Amino acid sequence: IVYENSVTASKAVAKEIADLIRVKQSQKQPCILGLATGSTPKGLYAELVRLHKEEGLSFKNVISFNLDEYYPMEPDSINSYVRFMKELLFNHVDILPENCHVPDGMLPKERIADYCDQYEAKIESLGGIDLQILGIGGNGHIGFNESGSLQNSKTRLVALDHITRVAASNDFSGLNNTPRTAITLGVKKIMEAKRVILLAWGESKSNIIRASVEGPVINQVPASFLQEHNNAIFVLDQAAASKL
Ligand code: GLP
Repeated sequence: IVYENSVTASKAVAKEIADLIRVKQSQKQPCILGLATGSTPKGLYAELVRLHKEEGLSFKNVISFNLDEYYPMEPDSINSYVRFMKELLFNHVDILPENCHVPDGMLPKERIADYCDQYEAKIESLGGIDLQILGIGGNGHIGFNESGSLQNSKTRLVALDHITRVAASNDFSGLNNTPRTAITLGVKKIMEAKRVILLAWGESKSNIIRASVEGPVINQVPASFLQEHNNAIFVLDQAAASKL
């Protein structure tokens, strides 16, 4: 779906999320959201906060699972995704803190594999992700599933691509300070989500959007796996859609 700009697109996606939360509320069910970080979903979270403050949208039945976190990463650090989510969404709505899950960037290395299994088990025990929000990296990564990730990959510790680290290096004031690894939800759990909405804005994403939507389904472009999902959409502004 191509919108005029990222503002109208973000509002439309926020409305879909709000409608889903309300349907689940009326059914007395939790609403399981898969959430993304990066600059792309910022407008979406701002609109969800507005819907909470101005239209009384409650997040009390929402249980969220974030896609990823840098490793190592302290939760209070300026670049942590825990902090990002608190500052942009969690601190401004009535979601219960115990219902907010972001991968733990502080675990000792030997505990990461078990932790990742538990992260997936928690999602499964709740019946899976109802709606997964995604951004896309310049190399086609989803979460931190970099080029070469397998379609059945599990939640795990990954090495970040050079191109991903360069893109993040401004935030970390230089490549040397940029983490080399991260914990990411695997492609398999993303593909198991009941609905997936990938967001992309701007000309700089247009080539990878074309490769993801119109190119072959290949490990080199993990977002291309979504072609095989039966309920996934790409929500784009005109610039991101300009090469389609
Ligand atoms: C990071 C995140 C991804 C995100 C990507 C794109 O790598 N881990 O989840 O989709 O950046 O970031 P941006 O939205 O800032 O372009």
